[in-house]
Amino acid sequence: METGSTDSRVAVVTGASAGIGEATARRLARDGWRLVLVARREDRLTALASELGGATVVALDVTAGHAPRRVADAVRGEHGALHLLVNNAGAAWRGTFADTGWENVRRHMELNFDAPVRMTEALLPLLRETAAAGKHAGVSPRISIVNVASTAARVARPASGAYSASKFALAGWSDALYAEERPHGVHVGLVLPGFVLTEGFPATELRAKAATRWIVSRPEVVAGAIVEAGPGGKAERYVPRPYGLAAALRILAPALVRRATAGGALTTATRPTRP
Ligand SMILES: NC(=O)c1ccc[n+]([C@@H]2O[C@H](COP(=O)([O-])OP(=O)(O)OC[C@H]3O[C@@H](n4cnc5c(N)ncnc54)[C@H](OP(=O)(O)O)[C@@H]3O)[C@@H](O)[C@H]2O)c1
Repeated sequence: METGSTDSRVAVVTGASAGIGEATARRLARDGWRLVLVARREDRLTALASELGGATVVALDVTAGHAPRRVADAVRGEHGALHLLVNNAGAAWRGTFADTGWENVRRHMELNFDAPVRMTEALLPLLRETAAAGKHAGVSPRISIVNVASTAARVARPASGAYSASKFALAGWSDALYAEERPHGVHVGLVLPGFVLTEGFPATELRAKAATRWIVSRPEVVAGAIVEAGPGGKAERYVPRPYGLAAALRILAPALVRRATAGGALTTATRPTRP
């Protein structure tokens, strides 16, 4: 696995101002990557960049029409190559369909599905060019895209239907992209975290009880999985790994999973994210 020192490989991390994205940026910087940090809160990105000894900061809303082009221009202009795209920016707004309607589905799809698809569209040409240049030069560092989905991309829970829909879409699209981009030298990895303590996903109920506290993981653990699913070449990675069991049970014992989710098990709060 190519997870060690990387000299001057370039990575774009969306949602780098907090949580899993920030932990991923720190991990990649430690491994020697040059970073392009993307999120809305410029102050946080700038502080992180200077703490990491320098990085390109692109402060924007990834759902904005101009966002993918601005990121692509910054990467080309400042680095001229791209070895890793981490589509991580995302959020969840809890609510039943009856209470929150199509509008809640729309905003989840816009941020958690459309934005990574559009970012990938803008950066794929440079990823392919970087792969081709490496092949031509006889060096083949793995060029990759990592899409951060969720265990909710496999098992839906009440009041998280809109979030699940967006992550199911991301997982399905990632599988097709994996197969399509293989011949072009671009690896596509999917990361499916379970409950991870971050500001957007505080997992308050789970952390309140000793019986469920252990379920909640840390952003640094997900950052390690992102490295495995990108430069490490894994196609799919649940974090922590046992969450893969829930996905398997959904197929093998759907009635059991329906009973567990409908009974209120496996619920956790996500706080309303900044607009
Ligand atoms: N934590 C969990 O339990 C968990 C579980 C499964 C999957 N995930 C997934 O992991 C990813 C990261 O989540 P997290 O837990 O690290 O959440 P977080 O701590 O709330 O961080 C979310 C990041 O996304 C950025 N972001 C949100 N909306 C954005 C927008 N419109 N434009 C640009 N950036 C935006 C935020 O930055 P700004 O606010 O500065 O823009 C922040 O950097 C998400 O895709 C989430 O669905 C999380």
